[in-house]
Amino acid sequence: MLTLGIICTLLASAFARDTDPPAPMAKRCTGTISSLADVAAAQVCATIIINSFTVPGGQTFTINAATGATITMAGDVTFGFAEWAGPLMLVSGNNVTFNGNGHTLFGQGDLYWDGLGGSGVTKPAPFIRVNNAGSFSNVRILNAPERSIAVKGSPVTISGITIDNSLGDLPNNRSNGLPAGHNTDGFGISNANNVIIQNSSVHNQDDCLAVNGGTNVTFQNNVCIGGHGISIGSIASNVVVNNVHITGNTVMNKSVVLPFSSLPPSPPPTNGLRIKTDATATASTVSNIVYTNNKLSGITQFGVLIDQSYYFGPGSWPPYLVGHLGARELGLENCDWA
Ligand SMILES: *[C@@H]1O[C@H](CO)[C@@H](O)[C@H](O)[C@H]1NC(C)=O
Ligand SMILES: *[C@@H]1O[C@H](CO)[C@@H](O)[C@H](O)[C@H]1NC(C)=O
Ligand SMILES: *[C@@H]1O[C@H](CO)[C@@H](O)[C@H](O)[C@H]1NC(C)=O
Ligand SMILES: *[C@@H]1O[C@H](CO)[C@@H](O)[C@H](O)[C@H]1NC(C)=O
Ligand SMILES: *[C@@H]1O[C@H](CO)[C@@H](O)[C@H](O)[C@H]1NC(C)=O
Repeated sequence: MLTLGIICTLLASAFARDTDPPAPMAKRCTGTISSLADVAAAQVCATIIINSFTVPGGQTFTINAATGATITMAGDVTFGFAEWAGPLMLVSGNNVTFNGNGHTLFGQGDLYWDGLGGSGVTKPAPFIRVNNAGSFSNVRILNAPERSIAVKGSPVTISGITIDNSLGDLPNNRSNGLPAGHNTDGFGISNANNVIIQNSSVHNQDDCLAVNGGTNVTFQNNVCIGGHGISIGSIASNVVVNNVHITGNTVMNKSVVLPFSSLPPSPPPTNGLRIKTDATATASTVSNIVYTNNKLSGITQFGVLIDQSYYFGPGSWPPYLVGHLGARELGLENCDWA
């Protein structure tokens, strides 16, 4: 077991931004959703209840909640199978509280998994877009076909999420002996500012967290099982990542804290804490990334990795700390490894 305290700054050049659309104020009513047909009437209300139902394959369960609304799950929701691009669910609105109440969103990823993720059959991804400013909490995401949660809300606090793709560690009859789940990232942040993700657990086959762009991101007290660890990136061209705090997380392959089933045994995580920049990326900035009190165990490749030539194909490992092919202007400053 390794406990790490690291402060790091990576520099280059900068830009970018986006804003959320305005939403109407919520009406004083309770809207109940028991099928997609109920959504339009329910989403104008201050209180929105989601009952147990099945979303037909090929359709997105979209809630554009009114400002200040509270959405509460009263049952589990299952997403029907269809080979399409998704997403399966989208929540948006300003100052919107989403409380899953411990209920489950069933993605039925096992019906899609072929060991190939984004390069296999078309899979709905991400499973959920959390575009609401406010909060998103207490929900279990079971078997994401591909990426799990894409975060765009600003500001948003995400807590008490269980992403359980543990079944994807096992091969199936379409995966040629490979783990069936692939590219099943836990949380992805692209151009979202002021995001807190905490008290959550992810058991998957790709990054636990991937910050592709954003400012003021806190990832704390989470558990990452199997997968590729906690990542900044991969950083493409013209993006900014600034002020990210990765605190008190555990990256490991065994489940002690979590309500995961004991099945199957999880493979060890490949990486612990990583910053990865695309080999061809230019004009991007990664700065003020602060790692404190993270625990890593059973990592098979790199505990801590700063990769400025991701992914240059097989044989490019280990990655280079100096710019590769002169493609980027990156400096590394103010690193304190403890
Ligand atoms: C957000 O909505 C809640 C009701 O859910 C309300 O009490 C609160 O005042 C709102 N906050 C802002 C900043 O509008
Ligand atoms: C693969 O397994 C699934 C159950 O997960 C089953 O429905 C399907 O018939 C199997 N396909 C083949 C070709 O064996
Ligand atoms: C997160 O978990 C800690 C410890 O279990 C608890 O003290 C804290 O209240 C939780 N925070 C949230 C937002 O759930
Ligand atoms: C980041 O947080 C600081 C301090 O709260 C705030 O001043 C700044 O506006 C935030 N940046 C963005 C892009 O929201
Ligand atoms: C964790 O990984 C190690 C090394 O591969 C393996 O021996 C062990 O069984 C794994 N533990 C769990 C709980 O999956």
